[in-house]
Amino acid sequence: MQRASEGASDVARPAAAARETWASRLGFVMAAAGSAVGLGNIWRFPWLAGENGGGLFLIAYLLMVGTLGISVLLAEIVIGRAAQKDPVGAFRLLGGGPWRLVGYLGIASAFLILSFYGVVAGWTLAFAVKQASGLFETAAPSQVFADLLAATYEPLAWAFAFLAMTAAVVSGGIRNGIERANLVLMPLLFLLLVLLAVRAVTLPRGLEGLAFFFAPDVTHLTTATIAAALGQAFFSLSIGLGAMITYGSYLQRGQPVGRAAFQIAALDTLAALLAGSIVFPAVYFAGIDPASGPGLAFVTLPSVFAEMPAGRLFGVVFFVLLAIAALTSAISLLEPVVAFLVDEYGFRRRLATLLTTVVAFLVGIPSSLSLGPMPELAAFGMSFLDLVDFVTASLMLPAGGLAMALFVGWKIAPLATAELAGEAQHRQPLIRAWILFLRFAAPAAIGWILVAGLIG
Ligand code: PHE
Repeated sequence: MQRASEGASDVARPAAAARETWASRLGFVMAAAGSAVGLGNIWRFPWLAGENGGGLFLIAYLLMVGTLGISVLLAEIVIGRAAQKDPVGAFRLLGGGPWRLVGYLGIASAFLILSFYGVVAGWTLAFAVKQASGLFETAAPSQVFADLLAATYEPLAWAFAFLAMTAAVVSGGIRNGIERANLVLMPLLFLLLVLLAVRAVTLPRGLEGLAFFFAPDVTHLTTATIAAALGQAFFSLSIGLGAMITYGSYLQRGQPVGRAAFQIAALDTLAALLAGSIVFPAVYFAGIDPASGPGLAFVTLPSVFAEMPAGRLFGVVFFVLLAIAALTSAISLLEPVVAFLVDEYGFRRRLATLLTTVVAFLVGIPSSLSLGPMPELAAFGMSFLDLVDFVTASLMLPAGGLAMALFVGWKIAPLATAELAGEAQHRQPLIRAWILFLRFAAPAAIGWILVAGLIG
């Protein structure tokens, strides 16, 4: 480990001097949407909606995205573009004092999420290969999934493979890689999601599944559901930890960002709606309990493929694309930590990437084992994986988002307003409303949900 403490001013560091920028606005939107659209939409969202009353969760989630989510997303992009730095550096530069703790909280969140994200992404790789082998033509998907989790080394090997791919992209720098890949892959992913949704809805009992997804079951209206919806909104939009600060820091000054924030949120929401419209019809078709937890997408989707012409091919393509969607998100989890080590401590990018990835893999091991060979890795009625997921998404991300709302609303409001001076004239009242929202309503709402969700 080499610390560049001796006289390494920001100017002297090549990483700070040659800061990369996106080639186009569309490239930024696609990369940010690539960060947002991932396992959160296709794996996490249907699983939580299934456990929290279907349509009720959907409504709560949409409300969160449309109010708190979009506001904090824009706040992060503005912070990043203004500071041109990693999350810790951004808060140090713009806020100073204890504000940098918000950056550290974000780095910790990114790191913890990456640890279990790699595990779940590993499942998608495993399922791609199992689809290709035709395994699902003879074995029930639920059994295949259970067998995968029960194995000790197999899921770990897939997680390792996935994290290695993530590290390969990040260590090579992101300029051409991320932007170019997302421009091709995101449209492809959406095309496939639409196709699968059409197939799923037209399955026998498909419409019942759709009804479950859209019809609110109000008996689930609890603070726990509201808190889960908030956590999902933050997780899905990749906000509350500084991933969007990092991506925003690669934007050139002066590019308008208001519309981009809306587009990113819209694409992310569309992906979640499509995923729900695939998974729940498939759940009803396959006769599975919607509340069957983190395996939901994995045990239902292969049963849809089995009913499609060329289903095996579709299955492979789908899980490969899902792995790629996960990859573009995992990159945005790794990148803030790497940027932090490079910008703040003078690490070389490759070494920072290697270290972060290895430690994230090691921290992910208990998450993987907790669902299979070591069920004793559990607390508060949750497996270790569910626990890390809950603590990060439902506590750390909202706490980070709350701090960011306060930061933009109180500490740097004039700067943030000036940053958005280039937005269209008729949007200026909206920007004033946004500042007020971040100042009062957002912190109050997030704070209330955090506390209420915790005490019950
Ligand atoms: N938004 C990603 C998803 O939905 C996960 C993620 C969270 C990525 C936080 C970056 C930061 O899969």
